[in-house]
Parts: sequence; C-alpha cells; structure tokens
Amino acid sequence: MSTTFQLDTATSRANPTPAPMKRLTVPAIRQRKKDGVTAEPIVMLTAYTARQAQLLDAHCDLLLVGDSLGQVIYGLPSSIPVTLDMMAAHGAAVVRGSYHSVVLVDMPFGSYEASPQAAFESASRLLKETGCAGVKLEGGEAMAETVAFLTQRGIPVMGHVGLTPQAVNVLGGYNARGRSDAEADKIVSDAKALADAGAFAIVVEGVVEPIAIAVTEAVPCPVIGIGGSARCDGQVLVTEDMLGMFERVPRFVKRYEEIAETIDGAVGRYAADVRARTFPGAENTYQPRK
Ligand code: KIV
Repeated sequence: MSTTFQLDTATSRANPTPAPMKRLTVPAIRQRKKDGVTAEPIVMLTAYTARQAQLLDAHCDLLLVGDSLGQVIYGLPSSIPVTLDMMAAHGAAVVRGSYHSVVLVDMPFGSYEASPQAAFESASRLLKETGCAGVKLEGGEAMAETVAFLTQRGIPVMGHVGLTPQAVNVLGGYNARGRSDAEADKIVSDAKALADAGAFAIVVEGVVEPIAIAVTEAVPCPVIGIGGSARCDGQVLVTEDMLGMFERVPRFVKRYEEIAETIDGAVGRYAADVRARTFPGAENTYQPRK
C-alpha cells in the first residue's frame, strides 16, 4: 500500500474506503521519479468496474481503465472496435469505486489520431463524463504534438510505446518489440519525444528487457513496464490476467491466483445444489411471520 494512504477498515460494503479521502494526483505520480530515481515503484493495474476498483484501490497508485476491456469484458478479438462510449461508461464506474488511486482512461482507437483537436474533444469528454484525472494514448513521435496540445490545455497524458496493441494491423501481431537495433532506437526516441512533449508518465509494453531499461533511463518521467523490466519505475498488468481468469496469457504475466478455477468450482457446486433441490435451504428462504 502506498505510504500516502491509510485504510479505514470500519467501513461499509458499499463504501469500503472512506470518502472524502485524499486521492493521489498526477503531479504526485510524476514526482515519484526524481533525478532519474524512483524510490517507491509505482503500482498500476487495470480496472473496468466499480467493485473491481474498490478491491484494487487501496493497493494501487494508478488504476487504468484500459481499452483491453474490449477483449477482457466484451470478448472482442482486439482493442480496435472499442468505442469512446464504452470507455466513458467503464471510466465513470471505476472513478465511482475508488477514492485513492489516480484513475486514467485509455483513448480508444480512432478517437485521437486524426488531429490534436480531435484528441482534445475525445479526452475532454472522458474527463467530464468520468471524473478521471487523465488519459493514456498509444504511439510515439507521431503523437508528440497531440500530447503537447492536450497537456497545455489541462489534460494529463500517459504515453504508451513499444508493443502498441491498437497498431496490431501494422505490427502484424503481438510479438515483443525492439529486437533489431533500428526498432530499439525508435522505441527510445519515441519515449523521449513523448516526455519532451509533456507526458507525465509512459507505459513501455512488450519490449526486450534492455530496451525497457534504456527507455527508463532515457526519460525524466516515470516509465511503467508491462513485459518490460523490474528496473522500470513501476509495473502494470491486466488484473484478470494476474488473477488467472484466462487460460492463455502472455509470458510476461505472473499469475497470483487461479480465479477461473475458483469460479468453476463454485458454479459447479451451485449447479449440483439446484439439481439436487438442496438450494435454497431454510436459511435462504423467507417464511411467513407468526
Ligand atoms: O489496455 C490496457 O489494458 C493497457 C495496459 C495493458 C497497459 O494499455
């Protein structure tokens, strides 16, 4: 748990952490990295629902409403079909479920690439409708002008370089990036361009470890790794991946639970009870008052 947060355990089911509570801020996250050193690594996870946010909030510094919700929640084949409406609805739920973490919402494919103005319209809608503190967008140098445009107009931006899933049709798949010198140099220069443009932090995803380290050392703002290196300034994972919700996960995921097995077992027991007419029992039924 972050040192800036005290959990009050005497709270209700609907409000497991007390409000009002001091929420971390984007500048506080940015300032975690001082002169190239991040003494307290930044903890980030994805969240898509209010209850999930409640459960993660006390442990995290940042909650990301990732466009990975396309695959994780909606069963879509990629993040390409994800819409601004989806991001706004889930973003608002996560803000409602959290009191402590900085909540960021991903800009979905097609909502920001055309121009800085288009990006501002989309990002300002996300901030107004969700209450999130900032947005994340994918892409390096090509997005620098947009990052500067948003930042100078009051919208904090987290960049995202390396394996950028929205570019899957250009990249040809989800393989690790940075294996050639040219690709490695481009990832580092992309990160530098985003940092120069004002990004307060940068995700580096799915790159060979030396490149994750090179990016972390090359920019003054915090670098959050996913499939990167323990030497990044922080880490992020898709929560359902680390909880064991899916059978197949990328190599970079560490499974901290096997929640799919837990659900399978519980639902199997419920189904058996229903078929045996042992559920509902007396303790689960209402009886007339005498
Ligand atoms: O969409 C997402 O969940 C992400 C993280 C994996 C960084 O972009």
